[in-house]
Amino acid sequence: MTDEILYDQQAIGFLEHIWGEGFLSPGGPEEVARVIEGVDIAGKHVMDIGCGSGACAVLLTRDHGAAHVTGIDVEDPVCEAARHRAELEGVADRITIKKVTPGPFPFDDETFDVVFSKDSIIHIPDKVAMAADAFRVLKPGGWFAASDWLIGHDGPPSPQMADYIAEEGLEFAMASPRAYAEAMKAAGFEEVELVNRNPWYAGVAAGELAWLKGPERPALSDRHGKEFIDHQVAIWTKLVGVLESGEHCPHHIRGRKPA
Ligand SMILES: C[S@@+](CC[C@H](N)C(=O)[O-])C[C@H]1O[C@@H](n2cnc3c(N)ncnc32)[C@H](O)[C@@H]1O
Repeated sequence: MTDEILYDQQAIGFLEHIWGEGFLSPGGPEEVARVIEGVDIAGKHVMDIGCGSGACAVLLTRDHGAAHVTGIDVEDPVCEAARHRAELEGVADRITIKKVTPGPFPFDDETFDVVFSKDSIIHIPDKVAMAADAFRVLKPGGWFAASDWLIGHDGPPSPQMADYIAEEGLEFAMASPRAYAEAMKAAGFEEVELVNRNPWYAGVAAGELAWLKGPERPALSDRHGKEFIDHQVAIWTKLVGVLESGEHCPHHIRGRKPA
């Protein structure tokens, strides 16, 4: 990990423009609802790994009835944005945002009913350690319900994928569905289930690229900076390529700690 802020104000502003206020990942409230579909959130204490600028934590409390969400993240700008969002949405008393350093979660064993995450574990290279620690902080019977960006195989990234990851510049550490499932099972999770969201996001990302390159581009450049938008077009062009090939495959990941 570098000392450089990866999700700075410019990145937050742009990602929220493309994905919605408080979102640094695609899909909005509908995708969050799919990630937790069938998991009882109401009245529960939820940990949100990589809470970003806070929309997921707000949805989990305001719309899904979580008693409390503890969002953790590693950078100040997103933590400040998330606290601000919780205030704006009137749920600050039910959301705690904690800046952490990468590594074990700074919570006691069996603290949470649900561990949630949306497209953030891609930044945690050791999925085995992450899964074991998520298992540790969950109460018996608790659910791990996450979305993450995966790579479709166990080999080295293809040249196209390596090029895409380098263009993002976000220190992505993508695991395969097999490696993810094995990490979850090794941690002790049962009912482990992965759902491939590539077919959905491949279409959405193609639309996002068309929007970035379309008639809005001058206004986007005025708002976010021409160089920045040119770079986003380069990222999205490569992203769409590796989504179309299927090598980049966002997944939903589930598992339950035995009761
Ligand atoms: C793509 S954003 C997603 C944010 C949010 N979950 C959402 O869906 O809008 C990834 C987030 O993970 C955070 N992150 C990076 N490394 C992390 C780590 N080791 N532990 C927790 N969060 C981390 C980043 O700072 C960033 O806010």
